[in-house]
Amino acid sequence: MNVLIIGSGGREYSIGLALKRDAKVTKIYFAPGNGATDALGENITLNDHEALVAWAKEHDINLTIVGPEAPLVEGIVDIFKAQGLNIFGPSAQAAQLEGSKVFMKNFLARHNIPTARYIETASLDVAGDFIETLTAPIVVKADGLCGGKGVIIAQSREEAKETAREMLSGNSFGDAGKKIIIEEFLDGYELSVFAICDGMDYVLLPAAQDHKRLLDNDEGPNTGGMGAYAPTPLVNELIYEKLKKRVVEPTLKGMVAEGMPFNGVLFMGVMVVAGEPLILEYNVRFGDPECEEIMPLLKNPFDLFYKAAIGDLASLNIEIEDKFAVGVVMASKDYPYKSSPKSEIIIDDIVHDDIKADAHISFAGVTKEDGKLYASGGRVLVCVGIGKSIQEARDRAYMLCGQIHFAGKQCRSDIAYQALGE
Ligand SMILES: Nc1ncnc2c1ncn2[C@@H]1O[C@H](COP(=O)(O)OP(=O)(O)O)[C@@H](O)[C@H]1O
Ligand SMILES: [Mg+2]
Repeated sequence: MNVLIIGSGGREYSIGLALKRDAKVTKIYFAPGNGATDALGENITLNDHEALVAWAKEHDINLTIVGPEAPLVEGIVDIFKAQGLNIFGPSAQAAQLEGSKVFMKNFLARHNIPTARYIETASLDVAGDFIETLTAPIVVKADGLCGGKGVIIAQSREEAKETAREMLSGNSFGDAGKKIIIEEFLDGYELSVFAICDGMDYVLLPAAQDHKRLLDNDEGPNTGGMGAYAPTPLVNELIYEKLKKRVVEPTLKGMVAEGMPFNGVLFMGVMVVAGEPLILEYNVRFGDPECEEIMPLLKNPFDLFYKAAIGDLASLNIEIEDKFAVGVVMASKDYPYKSSPKSEIIIDDIVHDDIKADAHISFAGVTKEDGKLYASGGRVLVCVGIGKSIQEARDRAYMLCGQIHFAGKQCRSDIAYQALGE
C-alpha cells in the first residue's frame, strides 16, 4: 500500500516511522515533509490541494493521512473524497469542531457534553456582564484558529474585559477574534485523549499528557508542547468509561444527527476536576508531541488509519503495546520567542543496546543540506524512549537527548513528572 502524509512536523515524521515498520506499507510520501522525512520515503513539494489530489491519483496512493488542522479546515478531505480517494481526516464541515471554538462549545452544549460554563458573544457589553458573574482567573478564547495563542487566562475581571476588547476589536487575532468565548476557569489536571473515528465507530487510544510550558515545573511561556508521555496513569478505567459514554459517543451521534459524520482523530483536551473529565476543547488531528509517543505503541497502525478512512473500524482488532513511551522535545535557541539561527545537528554513535532498540528520534524542524541535518528553528526533534515503566522510558529518552547536539538546544528535564509523583 502507498501512503501520502500531509504535513512537515514531528507528528508527521512519527506517523511515517510507525507506518514504515508496518508490513502492509510499500512506499510513503510526505507533502511537503521535512529534512529527515525523506529517509522514510520521499518528499514531494506540491501543496495546492487540487494538485495533490491529481498527483495522488497518478501515483496510486491507497491512503492519505492529514497531519495538521489547517488543510482539514480548508477542506482537503472533501477534495480527495470527491475524486474517490481514501483519506484519513474530517470534512471541512466536521473540522469546525477545531476551526471554531464557538461551534465546538455550542455543539457540546447541544449534546450535554460536560464542559466549562461559558458564553459566546461578539458584544463587549455581553462579555462584560458575564465576566462580572465570574471570579478570577477567567478564560477568554478567540473563536477561530490562532496557532495555539488565542486563549488568555485573565487574572482579574479587568484583564478579562481588556482581553475581550482587544480580541473583539480585531487587533489581536483579526477575524478569528470577531467572536469570543468567555468561560469559567477549571482547576484540575489536563490530559490529551485521542479517539480514532470512522463516522460511526471509534477506537480510544492510550491517554497522553503534554507539557505546554517552556521550563521545568511548568514555568515560562506557553509553547506548542515540550514533551509528552503515554499512557498516563492519571487516567483510570472509570475516566475512560466516562469519556466514552459522556463524550465520544454523544459526539459521534451528534455529528451524524447534524449531517456531518466525524472521521479522523477526535482529540479531546480534557481537564479532570475532582475525578470528572470536562472537555476544554476539541482538535481534529493528533497533538504534537503526543503523536510521537502514541505511534510507537501501535502494532497495526496502517489498519487503524485505513479502516477509519474507509469506514470499517468495526472490523479492526487494535493491538497496542503493553509499554510506555516518553518524548522529550529539543527546541531551538530562541523558541518560542523568535526564529533561531540555523545550526548543524550532530548525533553521537549510539553504543548502548537498549537505547538502540528502545529509543528513537522523531524529527521536526530540520533541513538537510549536502547530506547534513540542520536545526532550522522551532521545535527541532523529539527524543522518544520506550520502556516497561514510565521511569525506564524516560531514562532512555534522556539518554538519547544527551547524545544529540546543536547550538542553543533547549529541553525540559522533568517530562512525565506528574506520573512519577515528583
Ligand atoms: N476553562 C479553562 N480552565 C482552565 N484552563 C483552561 C481552560 N480553557 C483552556 N485552558 C488552558 O488553556 C490552554 C489552551 O486552551 P485550548 O482551549 O486548548 O485552546 P488552544 O489549544 O486552541 O489554544 C489549555 O490547554 C488549558 O491549559
Ligand atoms: Mg488546546
